[in-house]
Amino acid sequence: MSNIVDNIHYVGVNDHTKVIFEGLWPLPFGVSYNSYLVVDEKVALIDTVDADFADEFLGKIREVIGDRKIDYLIVNHMEPDHSSQMSKIHETYPDIRIVASRKALPMIAGYHKLSDNIMAVADGDVLSLGKTTLAFYMTPMVHWPETMMTYAVESRTLFSGDAFGTFGAVDGGITDTSGARLCGWLDTYKGCAAEFRSEMIRYYSNIVGKYGVPVQNAMKKLGGMEINRICSTHGPVWESEIAEVTGLYDRLSRYEGERGVCLVYGSMYGNTAKAAKAIEAKLIEKGIRYATHDLCHENLSFAYRDAFKFDTIIAGSPTYNAEVFPPVETFMRGLVSRGLKNRRFAAFGSYTWAGTSVRLLNETASKLGFELLCDGMSFPQAFDGSREAETLEAITEKL
Ligand code: FEO
Repeated sequence: MSNIVDNIHYVGVNDHTKVIFEGLWPLPFGVSYNSYLVVDEKVALIDTVDADFADEFLGKIREVIGDRKIDYLIVNHMEPDHSSQMSKIHETYPDIRIVASRKALPMIAGYHKLSDNIMAVADGDVLSLGKTTLAFYMTPMVHWPETMMTYAVESRTLFSGDAFGTFGAVDGGITDTSGARLCGWLDTYKGCAAEFRSEMIRYYSNIVGKYGVPVQNAMKKLGGMEINRICSTHGPVWESEIAEVTGLYDRLSRYEGERGVCLVYGSMYGNTAKAAKAIEAKLIEKGIRYATHDLCHENLSFAYRDAFKFDTIIAGSPTYNAEVFPPVETFMRGLVSRGLKNRRFAAFGSYTWAGTSVRLLNETASKLGFELLCDGMSFPQAFDGSREAETLEAITEKL
């Protein structure tokens, strides 16, 4: 069933085959590209889908409207996972009028060579489809500068673009009230938002994390609006769990972490890894929640998720060419580029003849305004444990 409410239909697709999103981020549970049709006296299509799904997408549109034409293509976001089918839609429905923010116009021309029959809209502009009124709200940098959201006034439905989206294909139903599920992840159904929570944090931290201030601005703009459902471009349509997902987005965009530790490290010959195990043992002894990431063997995606999730980061790196070990350096650079704030931090790591990694990690953390829990644990050659007992305690004593 494609119908979400009244005259609004889901025509998005699930991608279970792509392994890496944006060429960077793993997709262990797939991803959905959501698109919606509003069928009234006029028909509007809201966003399109990824390049690989043309036939399935057009088939779903025809199932809903048959031979009727589409009058408007509403472009909330130009990133190609949502705009790739624009040329195909234009070819199939040549009279279609494209509705987009002014900042989207050069992108539409550049990606699709389309510049005619385009309506540029501004904040608060409305478009009547008959009984349905669409209102447009500019939400720049959530996630690109051209981004806008579309609000179907009568049904109080917000088409939010990437905001409130998650990784993970959606099975079982498209709305949280119709049994949307993250395929094969949890045995016990705990509610849709709980099931998707980890993938929502990973999506936010990986993709949107840099734009906390624009997300906060968008949330303020939406603050007075009555919203019955949120139709994002990825993941379930939120109906019954709107408070949970907007609350989570609010906390993430304020860079507010839960109590717990994101422990990351890279190790060349196992000594920094042994120190990480000793820190883990301390965290377990003290009953502190934590997640560990070995950055030599794991995609950074999951470490960024937990850096956003928890209020403390403990990072371990050996000294490498008098610098921070490259995988850990890349992780730290990612925190800088995302402007992560409000974290406590500690560093550790081995060296052989001149230790610099802990000092450099502390310097980066200080630039981010993180609170240093201690001077860190920089140790020569093999990790001993008893020799480092005092600094091990110092790292964890304030947690
Ligand atoms: Fe899902 Fe920013 O595109």
